[in-house]
Amino acid sequence: MSETAKIIIADQPYEFPVITGTENEKAIDTARLRDLTGYVTYDDGYGNTASCESAITFIDGEQGTLRYRGYDIQDLAVHSNFIESAYLVVYGELPTISQLQNFRHLILRNAAIHQGMFSFFEAFPNNSHPMAILSAMVNSLGCYYPEMASNNREQDLEHLDSAATILLSKVRTLAAMSYRMKYGLPFIHPKPELPYCSNFLHMMFSEPYADYKFNPVVDRALNLILLLHADHEQNCSTSTVRMVASGGANLFASASAGVCALWGPAHGGANMAVIHMLAQIHQDSDDGSRFVAAAKSGDKSKRLMGFGHRVYKNYDPRAKILRKTCADVLNTLGVNDPLLDIALKLEEIATHDEYFHARRLYPNVDFYSGIIMRAIGIPVDMFTVMFAIGRMPGWIAHWRELATGNSPIHRPRQIYTGSPRREFTPIDQR
Ligand code: CMC
Repeated sequence: MSETAKIIIADQPYEFPVITGTENEKAIDTARLRDLTGYVTYDDGYGNTASCESAITFIDGEQGTLRYRGYDIQDLAVHSNFIESAYLVVYGELPTISQLQNFRHLILRNAAIHQGMFSFFEAFPNNSHPMAILSAMVNSLGCYYPEMASNNREQDLEHLDSAATILLSKVRTLAAMSYRMKYGLPFIHPKPELPYCSNFLHMMFSEPYADYKFNPVVDRALNLILLLHADHEQNCSTSTVRMVASGGANLFASASAGVCALWGPAHGGANMAVIHMLAQIHQDSDDGSRFVAAAKSGDKSKRLMGFGHRVYKNYDPRAKILRKTCADVLNTLGVNDPLLDIALKLEEIATHDEYFHARRLYPNVDFYSGIIMRAIGIPVDMFTVMFAIGRMPGWIAHWRELATGNSPIHRPRQIYTGSPRREFTPIDQR
């Protein structure tokens, strides 16, 4: 017999179906609650609400588990790379050799930006935030591919393979261009022979007569950062993408909304907060110990950035992977940076401190990704942009899942707490 849940309101019992996921996750299906009872559920911030059924990513925060399409993140980190994992996330299966070659080829072929878009960049003030530029550009891309951005669900789905590779490829070019523009540097065109991450670094850091030097350790580290960010189930930006898509909006518009949602400091901006914290500690001539002592006061404004996670109450599995990569990058590049020394000291102090143990606060992915990106030379205001490049496969996969499913337009209810009806008294305007 299928499981049900009973809700009793004013002594009247109502029965609701229970949905069980493949990892035995349980949810009470309250879709008919309002029809049957006149009540709605209230869950500010959706912390206890499954907004959809999804077959893309599984997280068990208690165990520190993260899987894309059933594959453990550790296995993907060891055996795969960003592009292969992006294919997996978007299409649900690992690619065959020929599928992977074709996917790579399409991504390579789509790296360049339409000449018309260069004038958009010129029109932005050069102190514009790269996330503002990126969201505008991702949405604008749809104007160059109207057949893929028709807001006609069937037509957009027909062109999804092309739209997906265009987005995956061009988000990286657009990101590099926003950096070059901000620093008044000439745009560097992508090189078809370079792999995904090194092509990005080339577009960021090459000079007209001096190419960025390919470094396999750095390429691997960047691959890992992007791979580890490829999806994280119903986070703020991904839920935004699904919400926008549920109204029938095309992939470019939905992904652009995802970029905007990611921009906030409580979401994609946490990796920047880590570096700002390290700079503050350095400026205060602290070695980290005073900061850790203050972080234990319970004052939210003094929290140790890059520690703790809303979902992971065990070691963030992504942080575990990046910790080792972080050491490799620092060793290979021989970086001498006082902020990185402070970061390692902080990690040492906090991971041996009872306060952090008792509250199950461990370094999260942002702690190490921030350090690695700083060591590679990526400026802090580009960190969230890097996150957006990494999250693009997830946004595409969720757009696809929503567009091919039967989900209605997303339209939550609310509990109104404003004024009851009042009489309108016109002001005397004489
Ligand atoms: N430093 C010091 N104390 C902390 C921290 C921290 N970073 N995080 C939580 N605590 C304490 C908190 O004060 C509370 O203590 P007490 O029980 O004595 O009142 C206890 O730990 C539980 O805190 P909470 O706010 O209930 O924990 P939460 O799960 O709601 O918060 C968090 C999660 C990520 C908002 C929080 O840990 C935090 O603010 N961390 C720093 C910011 C950060 O690194 N964010 C990035 C997260 S990863 C992003 C992603 O995956 O997209």
